[in-house]
Amino acid sequence: FSLKQYNTFGVETFAKQYVEIRMESELIELFGQTTALIQKPLLVLGSGSNVLFTKNFNGLVIRMAIPGIKHTVSGTDVTVTAGAGVIWNDLVWYCVDRNFGGIENMALIPGTVGAAPVQNIGAYGAELKDVFLSCRAFDTHRGEVATFDREACHFSYRDSFFKNKAKGRYIITQVTLSLSLDAALNTSYGAINTELAKRNITDPTIRDIAKVVSAIRTNKLPDPSTIGNAGSFFKNPIVSLQHLKHLQSAFPDMPFVYYPVDDKHVKIAAGWLIEQCGWKGKRIGDAGTWKSQALVLVNHKNASGTDIYRLSERIIHDVKRRFGITLEREVNIL
Ligand code: EPU
Repeated sequence: FSLKQYNTFGVETFAKQYVEIRMESELIELFGQTTALIQKPLLVLGSGSNVLFTKNFNGLVIRMAIPGIKHTVSGTDVTVTAGAGVIWNDLVWYCVDRNFGGIENMALIPGTVGAAPVQNIGAYGAELKDVFLSCRAFDTHRGEVATFDREACHFSYRDSFFKNKAKGRYIITQVTLSLSLDAALNTSYGAINTELAKRNITDPTIRDIAKVVSAIRTNKLPDPSTIGNAGSFFKNPIVSLQHLKHLQSAFPDMPFVYYPVDDKHVKIAAGWLIEQCGWKGKRIGDAGTWKSQALVLVNHKNASGTDIYRLSERIIHDVKRRFGITLEREVNIL
């Protein structure tokens, strides 16, 4: 079964088995009655926007396609529940259209609702964990569905229980968010303010924020339907304040401190590090980095997963040599 159209890098790869799930009960059935037929290993895919296949997948691919969004309102509190297969950006606009505030900064993040908690998606000053209430997940070890609240998910920067300690065990089927009819707007991120000012918007609504964020992303990031990519390929590295000081004196043109993590650490922009190493917009064959965002690796057309992986190795090597920082991949390598 070809997975070429099920990964946004658009690389060719084959899976032994493939199944699409549209209801939670289908998972219970799949694991209950036909265990003997299931080819291990398992791979759960949403829209394949955070994986790089470097070889064929010798097992069962489960594509989560559970649809549906519903909500309840109580005073100004809103609870929204969506199926794992809902496209994240569709959920954002469902909420924006009803004035449910809290996820507008995360407009146009690729991927599905079910994948969102796995790596605690985030952008423009907001993270899923800020609005996350709970999720339901099928436990492949016990054959039953469990509910996880925010604490149980151990969210941190691009990380969670599902990606870390319990990797491969649970399949998220549904996510519930806690939103608000009078949520405070989050305009802490510089690029949002600049863009609002450009449009003379002084009193923005959540719709304005969602529109502005979408415009920024569309300008800066390649559209996976035309150029294969999986968003940021690496995480922004977290360095100690001491390391930062050292970097700032060695590289006085280092433009900024990206984000405070705690009182001893900051997150710095991997895109800048990669650009400094001369990789921005470069390509080796059909594998390259994006011309306006070096953190995004792209498949110009016919790159294989291995070509893209090799490019990432060279980038890691160069950044390490120049800055003493080891970049970690954000994308799942298979
Ligand atoms: N920069 C460069 N050169 C580059 C790219 C970036 O110098 O080629 C510098 C610029 O100074 C820029 C700064 O890096 O101002 C930050 O860049 P950007 O605002 O594009 O954000 P980022 O840190 O590169 C992160 C997330 C993105 C998210 C944006 C906006 C990670 C790994 N990436 O990128 O998330 O959209 O912030 O919030 O945390 C993703 O996870 O797939 C993703 C796209």
